[in-house]
Amino acid sequence: MATILEDYIAKHPGSAERYIEASKVFPGGVTHDTRYAQPFPLYMTHGEGSKKWDVDGTEYIDYVSGHGALLLGHSHPAIADAVSKQILRGTHLGASTDDEIRWANAIKALMPSIEKLRFHSSGTEATLMAMRLARAYTGKTKIIKLQDHFHGWHDYAMAGSDHSAPGIPEASWGTMLVVPPGDLTAVEDVIKKDPDIAGVILEPTGAHFGQLPLDAPNYLKGLRALTEETGVILIFDEVVTGFRASPGGAQERYSVRPDLTTLAKIVAGGLPGGAVGGKADIIDMIAHRNEPDWDNNHRVYHPGTFNGNPLSAAAGATALEMIASQPINQQADAMAARLKVGINEALGNLEIPGHAHGIASMIHVILADCDCDRELCTMSHAKITEANGSSAVTAMKRGLQNRGVDIMSRETFLVSGLHSEKDIDKTIEVFESTMEAVRADGLI
Ligand SMILES: Cc1ncc(COP(=O)(O)O)c(C=O)c1O
Repeated sequence: MATILEDYIAKHPGSAERYIEASKVFPGGVTHDTRYAQPFPLYMTHGEGSKKWDVDGTEYIDYVSGHGALLLGHSHPAIADAVSKQILRGTHLGASTDDEIRWANAIKALMPSIEKLRFHSSGTEATLMAMRLARAYTGKTKIIKLQDHFHGWHDYAMAGSDHSAPGIPEASWGTMLVVPPGDLTAVEDVIKKDPDIAGVILEPTGAHFGQLPLDAPNYLKGLRALTEETGVILIFDEVVTGFRASPGGAQERYSVRPDLTTLAKIVAGGLPGGAVGGKADIIDMIAHRNEPDWDNNHRVYHPGTFNGNPLSAAAGATALEMIASQPINQQADAMAARLKVGINEALGNLEIPGHAHGIASMIHVILADCDCDRELCTMSHAKITEANGSSAVTAMKRGLQNRGVDIMSRETFLVSGLHSEKDIDKTIEVFESTMEAVRADGLI
């Protein structure tokens, strides 16, 4: 019988061929680090709803969901219609538009902590701006960040990530203080010892949208109280959890109001886009006052060619208005819950150590046992990371792809409001046969 790897190579000749070409023009052959895969990544042609198709014509149930951006699935007719209409009216008018106001109001309606906001083109830009605003507003320099929490790839964001990062000046990392996740006392100690703390930024459900979970309800409330007491700006990075952890993000789910929120992905309805929003007096650090001293010396500068661009505005406003008025999150969450139960049953049936955990439409598989409640995994982050690094997990991802299921990173299922019970039941079947193949390969 063929191994999972042999099967992968045999089933994806078109992708193998394209990877040879791509390797001549792209470092590592890819245009995003998480798309890097051995022996080659898959090349897709199109998507619709919960499905997408590769260059060999194979259909996949898709749980990459546009790196989390597609809560409405691929090419949703309402988004396609809004964007198609706008493209005929202009992709960049070099001016302000009605749709940017509509888009901002749609965000504010879902996230009441956002009094004012500015648009960007990505989550990386949004977190860069949030940190800068915190510094400008407080007049302080340093930002506290949680170990392994991901905030994009700019110099400050890379501090405390799980990668070493050549090319980043020590000076910028020197302004970042990395603390262990979930440890409120560690944050308190840093704030007490150092009078130069401007803000704290975190993924509110834990690193990698909850792959390394936080005891969010308690930790977030504690962090809110601590930052309020000490005048430190609390920044929730809701680039993934925004509009996914609940229609109002993790802040609504856990009833904690940050000072600033960073958004991207779902916010732009599947097109490029980001935003930073929050308390008006902080965001107004960007505002012109028509006073030369303020405007030239104190104001936070914010250009950006594609900020609030008409296509992203049309897509973003349409998506968020749908999220506000239709049971999209309910559908995604119900399907994710069904998937989680099915994966846990499959692992149990096969007597394979492992479990699926997660909240809302973000499900993570760990090939190691744990007696957690399946929402918030209580295993140590070191153990989760070790389990996720195994060759069994690599084989699991490839085996799923061999059977028509594509997942985010190595072990995450991001479910959309377009996934159906049929999709989920098929995925569970595929998961079970994949894990049998992983075992047949001798990896479990
Ligand atoms: C929590 C979080 N913050 C920021 C980013 C960066 O966003 P972008 O890829 O749009 O720059 C990501 C991207 O995955 C993310 O997951």
